[in-house]
Amino acid sequence: MLVSFLCTKLKLPWAILLAGLFLSGCSVFIDAHQTTFDPKGPIARDQLTLFYITLGVVTFIFVVVASILLYAVVRYRAKPGSGQETLPEQTHGNPLLEAGVVAASIALLVVIAVPTVRSAIYIYTVPEDGEILEVTATGYQWWWTFEYPELGVMTANEMWIPKETNIRINLRTQDVIHSFWVPKLAGKVDMIPNRNNWMWLRADEEGMFHGQCAEFCGESHANMLFRVISVGRDEFDAWVARQRQPGRDPATADDPLALAGRELFQTKGCVQCHHVEGLGLDGGILGPDLTHFGERHTVAAGLLANTPENLAAWIRDPERIKPGNLMTAGVVNQNLTEPEIERLVAYLKSLNLN
Ligand code: CUA
Repeated sequence: MLVSFLCTKLKLPWAILLAGLFLSGCSVFIDAHQTTFDPKGPIARDQLTLFYITLGVVTFIFVVVASILLYAVVRYRAKPGSGQETLPEQTHGNPLLEAGVVAASIALLVVIAVPTVRSAIYIYTVPEDGEILEVTATGYQWWWTFEYPELGVMTANEMWIPKETNIRINLRTQDVIHSFWVPKLAGKVDMIPNRNNWMWLRADEEGMFHGQCAEFCGESHANMLFRVISVGRDEFDAWVARQRQPGRDPATADDPLALAGRELFQTKGCVQCHHVEGLGLDGGILGPDLTHFGERHTVAAGLLANTPENLAAWIRDPERIKPGNLMTAGVVNQNLTEPEIERLVAYLKSLNLN
């Protein structure tokens, strides 16, 4: 609709240019969270360099071919009244020219192929210099778990990493094919059932980097986001120490609202899908582990900021926020009242050792 509007209101070349910018998300010009033009790690930088090399080669081909075409069109056009309206003399075959074009094509492909192969090897070779931290990322419809096997830590939707450290990520899926992509750091590599894919990445600096599932995996594929949080070594160690603790107990914190919320969390079925370490019940793995939910930045797998209002909206009507999610059925069955939602929000927000 937008394109047809532009075509009728503007001259066609401008319409095409504007539509192109619109469709590309204009990510080159604005501070986009998911742009690949602002790499913050060696893998993303390598991929961007490869993109520029390819872009350079195809631009060169375009300019050469278009120039020859334009020259031929102008130079050999039939001029009215010149007696050239009939076809000019046809020629066939020019071995030197044909061999030259074939050789030039091969040379240009080699220019692309050499850095591509080098890059493919680089992406699958974790540098041996220094520590390698291992994380197992598992995709679910439509959220993520992040497990640190060497550290005994399990979390969901937010992957903390120490900056300037090589991270090896094992890519797993619990259901369909997903794809792990952090545009500013690395990607994309598919998470395929019964196949142990992996990738590595490193963040140059501290920061919160947006991640996104990059393989269509169902109706809320576009809502399957996550965050990579890169911090200094000390902050990372402190985070790990907190993650190893059980969930904060509202009874010891003199927090009656959160205490009432914990009661509801157990009786309203939340605990059947969500695990909270220390609750004394073995929560399921159908939903994210919520042991330290209170210190997460987002709710609903990176979709909303973790504010009490957003959390309440999510519990009240998850279907509106993430169509097709598993929690909708549970919420509908429980028919939660507003005071109950308020208590649940208080409990979940209290799960914070920070
Ligand atoms: Cu998971 Cu798309």
